[in-house]
Amino acid sequence: MAQVSVSVLACDTMRMGEQILKAEKAGADFIHVDVMDGNYVENLSFGAQHVRDLKKITSLPVAVHLELFHPERFLDMFAGAGADILTFQLDACHNPLHFLREIRRRGMEAGVGIGPAYSIENLKYLLHLADRLTLMSVEPGYGGQVFEESVYEKLRRMQELTKAAGLEIPIGVDGGVNLEIGSRLLNSGADVLIAGSYIFRQGEIGKQVKALKGLQIQK
Ligand code: DX5
Ligand code: ZN
Repeated sequence: MAQVSVSVLACDTMRMGEQILKAEKAGADFIHVDVMDGNYVENLSFGAQHVRDLKKITSLPVAVHLELFHPERFLDMFAGAGADILTFQLDACHNPLHFLREIRRRGMEAGVGIGPAYSIENLKYLLHLADRLTLMSVEPGYGGQVFEESVYEKLRRMQELTKAAGLEIPIGVDGGVNLEIGSRLLNSGADVLIAGSYIFRQGEIGKQVKALKGLQIQK
């Protein structure tokens, strides 16, 4: 069964709480909050206050996805806000090994994300310090983009790399995920489906979450 992470970037921000509770009730596993700086990506999005307020209404783990330069500057801010998982983009961080250790030291799960145009081979040098991996299937910055097919091949390779390291690290895929793509991802080894537009903009929230949760691995 897939784990579903609800990316709130696509929600109606005026009804955010209500919409997140609908997703939670339907069986979502994580709430995914993109934090953008208008620099690493063009867009701006959420901040620590959103995470703090979210933690008051949901019992699901909150996964913060930093899509910004100098993620280390924001470490204590999001640890203090109650983030459960902190993921940064590999190409936005100069000292990823150190940063992964520091995330763990603050009691959060440490995640690394990698953009669709980057090779995942570098990830093998940090697997021993990573609790989660995120393969991005769109360029960071916006929801509603077209899914990059190259992620399927990366998923296979990523599994080889984690296996060779003797580790089991959950792999999430972020961007352009819908039901059809979700099914193929699940059957290609993805553990977490991160979805925004499909959940908030293509139907009734509860139904959309349940549909993703209902995907099965084909034997
Ligand atoms: C993109 C974000 C994604 C985004 C996914 O920068 O990291 O989490 O919200 O949105 P959809 O599912 O709409 O592609
Ligand atoms: Zn994201």
